Amino acid sequence: MRIAVGADHGGYPLNERVIEELRTAGHEITDFGTHDGSISDDYPDYARELGQAIQRNAVEIGILICGSGVGASVAASKLKGVRAALCGDTYSAHQSREHDDCNILCLGARVTGVELALEIVRAFVAASFTGEERHRRRLKKVLEIEKL
Ligand code: RB5
Repeated sequence: MRIAVGADHGGYPLNERVIEELRTAGHEITDFGTHDGSISDDYPDYARELGQAIQRNAVEIGILICGSGVGASVAASKLKGVRAALCGDTYSAHQSREHDDCNILCLGARVTGVELALEIVRAFVAASFTGEERHRRRLKKVLEIEKL
């Protein structure tokens, strides 16, 4: 699968672990950095780059990491067609794909431990939208909200 990974300084070095995990599993990774957690940078910049990669279909899904995951999910979800799920558990991670057709997983590197974060990533990547009528109906309503 084509997957983008991006993180601000608060998300580093969890992004490096996520990339290693995904590459080992055979995925094609677009790495938006950061590779230096000592430089104070801005999560919206990563959210924008990664979200636009989703929009132009350069990647299928993305993993976006900041300190809490909150800023990343707020910023990325501003982009049309981007649904960014902040997850701290595996159930939300797979359900966000299966029911909500989310295309970005957000993680908080300062709140979620590395091993749990990697399990969350595996759950998100392995899941897909079920396409059931009730989920399509709800997704359509979400897309209507996006137009407001
Ligand atoms: C950076 O200090 C931090 O504010 C950012 O990574 C993120 O947690 C914002 O939601």
